[in-house]
Amino acid sequence: MNKNNIEQLSALAFNAQKNSHSPYSNFKVGAAVITPTGETFAGCNVESAAFPLGQCAEATAIGNMVSQGYKRISHIVIASPNEEFCFPCGGCRQKIAEFATDDTPVTMVSKQGQTHNTTIGELLPNAFRAHDLEK
Ligand code: THU
Repeated sequence: MNKNNIEQLSALAFNAQKNSHSPYSNFKVGAAVITPTGETFAGCNVESAAFPLGQCAEATAIGNMVSQGYKRISHIVIASPNEEFCFPCGGCRQKIAEFATDDTPVTMVSKQGQTHNTTIGELLPNAFRAHDLEK
């Protein structure tokens, strides 16, 4: 677990969290990723009056990364709005796995700055991946 990544990505994730559009849940989330070459991308959750269309912060950060031409995540940090850790939802675990390997670190950071470190392989064992389509 790279401490510098956690500090840098936490700051970016909390900054993005401020822009969260979450008038329905009032649950503001931020996320940030870093690529193997050090580029960083952040995002917040974006809700909709048509509730099912809401997008998680992780998906926004990943979308920002891919839009800029990067396709590998070497660490992702998710910033929660409260004292609990905000673990990525099932769909976001799959979205993270698309651009990560099993050992890619995932760090949850609470409002108070406490951290919980795991990997995407722990969060989504036996992920369905691109190579599964080739068989
Ligand atoms: N949310 C995220 O952005 N990331 C997560 O990991 C979990 C949930 C958002 C979706 C919705 O806008 C709000 O939090 C409440 O579920």
